[in-house]
Amino acid sequence: QVAAASGHTVVLVDQSDEILKKSTKGIEESLKRVTKKKFADQPEAGAEFIKKTLKNLTTSTDAASVVHSTDLVIEAIVENLEVKNKLFKTLDKFAPEHTIFASNTSSLQITKMANATTRQDRFGGLHFFNPVPMMKLVEVIKTPMTSQKTFESLMDFSRAVGKSPVSCKDTPGFIVNRLLVPYMMEAVRLFERGDASKEDIDVAMKLGAGYPMGPFELLDYVGLDTSKYIIDGWHSLEPNNPLFAPSPLLNKLVEEKKLGKKTGEGFYKYK
Ligand code: 3HC
Repeated sequence: QVAAASGHTVVLVDQSDEILKKSTKGIEESLKRVTKKKFADQPEAGAEFIKKTLKNLTTSTDAASVVHSTDLVIEAIVENLEVKNKLFKTLDKFAPEHTIFASNTSSLQITKMANATTRQDRFGGLHFFNPVPMMKLVEVIKTPMTSQKTFESLMDFSRAVGKSPVSCKDTPGFIVNRLLVPYMMEAVRLFERGDASKEDIDVAMKLGAGYPMGPFELLDYVGLDTSKYIIDGWHSLEPNNPLFAPSPLLNKLVEEKKLGKKTGEGFYKYK
């Protein structure tokens, strides 16, 4: 959405036409929200902006068949290294020489994905934040093999889509998640110990620390499965680090498929 809205030609790829239809509808809804604010007094210009953006956006269920005409691939699939590497290996065969590959992973090592391809110098991380149309930040991740030219292209691309990039080495969680995920897990542990209610913890962090959402609202927004995936991955890397300790309550909610806003229930109910 943000790439198409800033004039880039985008092919959105997913597994089925049904998912793509749902994604396109989500983009249309989000564009309406952005337009309402950006073109508050110019409805015609707003309609034109939406039309132009959607014109820049096509969809496909076959990444290998569209990658031949791309300068940049941004992968944002399931947080599973094997699945990501399988995709990157395939795309590596069909993509032109100059094409840069980037992953939007929240917690996996970019280096491990780059090593699945033959273009380690043209591989980096581009980590966006939810909701992407609103959040100004992009973390640009440089592995020891990412070339300076690739790094600069990723920084330029981030600016071209209207974001403010920061750079970080290929370290677990990069900047934001390395600080944010342990904070959210500490909130869950505070609640698990019975020290405060989740409602009061959320109010406290909003009114006492100026956060736009409390930690439980944010966990539900990000998705409890994603949060669990991140913490489990880090726990297996550093089992003795108390900041990365798993939470029985989070595990239980995920087991019950209460994954947050997207399933209608997580720490809170949304139906
Ligand atoms: N598309 C377009 N516009 C959107 C939007 C979307 N998906 N979501 C919200 N907006 C717009 C609304 O239209 C609204 O515009 P307005 O000011 O003109 O009315 C504005 O954002 C504010 O939205 P709301 O009034 O509905 O609600 P809030 O004031 O609570 O803002 C929020 C919503 C922007 C999500 C805000 O609560 C917030 O910033 N929350 C924190 C988000 C955060 O921390 N994100 C990072 C998560 S971590 C992550 O993503 C990393 C990953 O690796 C796990």
